[in-house]
Amino acid sequence: MTKIRILVGSETGTALDVADALEETLTANNCSVAVAEDPSLDDLQHPDEVLLICTSSTGVGDFPSNINPFVIALNDTPPNIAGRRYGVISLGDSSFETYAAAATRLDGMFSDIGAVRIGEPLFLDALETFTPDKDAITWVKQWVTLL
Ligand SMILES: Cc1cc2nc3c(=O)[nH]c(=O)nc-3n(C[C@H](O)[C@H](O)[C@H](O)COP(=O)(O)O)c2cc1C
Repeated sequence: MTKIRILVGSETGTALDVADALEETLTANNCSVAVAEDPSLDDLQHPDEVLLICTSSTGVGDFPSNINPFVIALNDTPPNIAGRRYGVISLGDSSFETYAAAATRLDGMFSDIGAVRIGEPLFLDALETFTPDKDAITWVKQWVTLL
């Protein structure tokens, strides 16, 4: 059984709703799922888990406040997650110049410390979709086959 930990960054709840929808789908697809609503470095302490970043951007390309402490800690004291597999889901709005900046930066930080992204990121653009949870479910069914 594949173990997946979803690291949520959400300012107004949309990314958290997506993560909850994914938990249901992944569980039905023979995965065990933990949703980290307030991620911390402790969430990286399980080498057998695949990580799934699911974060929006806020402000001017900023991280949502619930995931910001995690990002700071990741930057200050990078853990050894070399070889760890992860995926990326971005929620954003392409009318912002800083479109998808938070997820893109976190993707880069994970890559810089040797984690290995599986598949291409999913970009959920609020200008293009009113059903990010359904779009994410479609994407994750494909993503999970890559693990
Ligand atoms: C004040 C504010 C700032 C935002 N800044 C950005 C941004 O810099 N880049 C981006 O891609 N989307 C931005 N967005 C759009 C959000 O990321 C998008 O609406 C997302 O679905 C919100 O998810 P959440 O409810 O999980 O925070 C912003 C939205 C708001 C309300």
